[in-house]
Amino acid sequence: MDIMQFQRLALLSQDTFITSLIHRPVVDSTNNLAIELANDSDVDGLVVIADKQTSGKGRRGNEWFSPEGNLYMSVVIKPNFTEDLIHSPHNLFQLITLMTAISVVEAIKNLLQINLSLKWPNDIMIEGKKVGGILIESRYKGALLNFVVIGIGLNLVHSNVPPSLEGKLAYLRQFTDQHIARDDILLYILKSLDRWYKKFRNHCFDEIIEQWKSNNCTLGRLVKISADERIITGLATDISNMGSLIIKDSNGKLFSIISGSLEFI
Ligand code: BTN
Repeated sequence: MDIMQFQRLALLSQDTFITSLIHRPVVDSTNNLAIELANDSDVDGLVVIADKQTSGKGRRGNEWFSPEGNLYMSVVIKPNFTEDLIHSPHNLFQLITLMTAISVVEAIKNLLQINLSLKWPNDIMIEGKKVGGILIESRYKGALLNFVVIGIGLNLVHSNVPPSLEGKLAYLRQFTDQHIARDDILLYILKSLDRWYKKFRNHCFDEIIEQWKSNNCTLGRLVKISADERIITGLATDISNMGSLIIKDSNGKLFSIISGSLEFI
């Protein structure tokens, strides 16, 4: 990252929750480094960014393919968890995921005029392909939640993907002729995240959910969800006020899913 860019980002920290930014050319995972640093000190608002990851992590133990050229970032937050642990940590993590997803969509729309869409719970899509993902991790101090790390990966440029990912991924360069500057994207995401995180801290969850709904490609579709070793198929009908997905099966029975992995059928 060049010095000008660093200064722009430093300016950002003046009136946002961002307190410091660490850039590394290579890390195993920006989430891992963020967790390590957050364990050692009080680093609310720490951002870690890397040019590439050697062991990028996806959800459910999957690897996140992380060659040079894309965006890999992690943000540490420490809201007032005792107050914000609405009903369960799952709800909290779900709402943080949705808040992050809408921030990424807003940033990319503002900067590049590209419309991304959201697949519950954490996928950022474009034209049916995955362009980005969000991984929320957390650590406890005793029984208390100490911090949450928000990991964001966004594909920006073409790369030779492993055969297992062939045809499944998209990258932003495909959808614009504009120059794609990773650090501008980072800046826009942090600005959007700051705005939505303020709403989150003010418990404006309905606004977050409404925004997510207006940018989603999940509701109204037939889906198959794997959650807690159960498989549920049905119509994705709504998102609850705590971020759960509401599914209606063929008997009209409603299920509220807090977390799981979703496939369209
Ligand atoms: C997913 O869709 O499975 C989540 C992918 C999250 C990837 C990002 S890249 C930056 C951060 N560091 C990681 O190791 N993972 C997240």
